Amino acid sequence: MLPPQRLIVAISGASGSRYAALLLQQVVPRVPQVAVVYSRVAPRVITHELDLPAGRGTDPLALLDDIVVPAGHRVQRYGLNDYSAPFASGSNAYDAMVIIPCSQGLIGRIAAGLAETLIERAADVCLKERRPLLLVPRETPLSQIHLRNWLSLTEAGAIILPACPSFYHRPQTVDAVLLSVVDRVLAHLDLPRPEAYQWTGEGET
Ligand SMILES: Cc1cc2nc3c(=O)[nH]c(=O)nc-3n(C[C@H](O)[C@H](O)[C@H](O)COP(=O)(O)O)c2cc1C
Repeated sequence: MLPPQRLIVAISGASGSRYAALLLQQVVPRVPQVAVVYSRVAPRVITHELDLPAGRGTDPLALLDDIVVPAGHRVQRYGLNDYSAPFASGSNAYDAMVIIPCSQGLIGRIAAGLAETLIERAADVCLKERRPLLLVPRETPLSQIHLRNWLSLTEAGAIILPACPSFYHRPQTVDAVLLSVVDRVLAHLDLPRPEAYQWTGEGET
């Protein structure tokens, strides 16, 4: 099934909008169909965290401004209540879904099976249809409620991939730090970035 031909990228209201931008830069050229859905709070966090182009300050789709969509590829945005999206139904489930960054609020709602918004429903569909669902939470510290939700979603088949960057590749820029998380997401989608750092043990001091 992987690498995905149809991928859902959902962006929630957790801090870490740049993670979403970096992931979209990587997947849009390589995945023929990418659906993008923003949560209720995401646009507010994105516009606060990122230097979006002038005049696009309130439009989170500006995340995609610098990305060239290859011929034959499609990036489609769906509204949070757009139940006409194909992946709202298990009969037309996409190959995989990533929620990046993923708020604890959203994790709680998915863990409770609420399936109220398109993001929650798409995640619910991924779980019931046994499609890969990758959640990239960014929160610290974690409460007992957060940890319980992480466990129940892991038991239901989701992959919790916290936004915990690594440093053994000696990153020199903020993006190099963030890419260490995005690279783990790409690896789980079977879309490894060729330049991704891999530990070999060589040069170890
Ligand atoms: C500036 C800002 C930063 C936030 N950062 C986080 C965060 O890092 N992790 C988190 O779980 N929630 C964070 N939140 C809270 C969520 O946005 C809030 O719980 C929201 O209701 C989650 O719903 P949504 O992600 O579905 O939009 C933040 C909110 C704001 C305004």
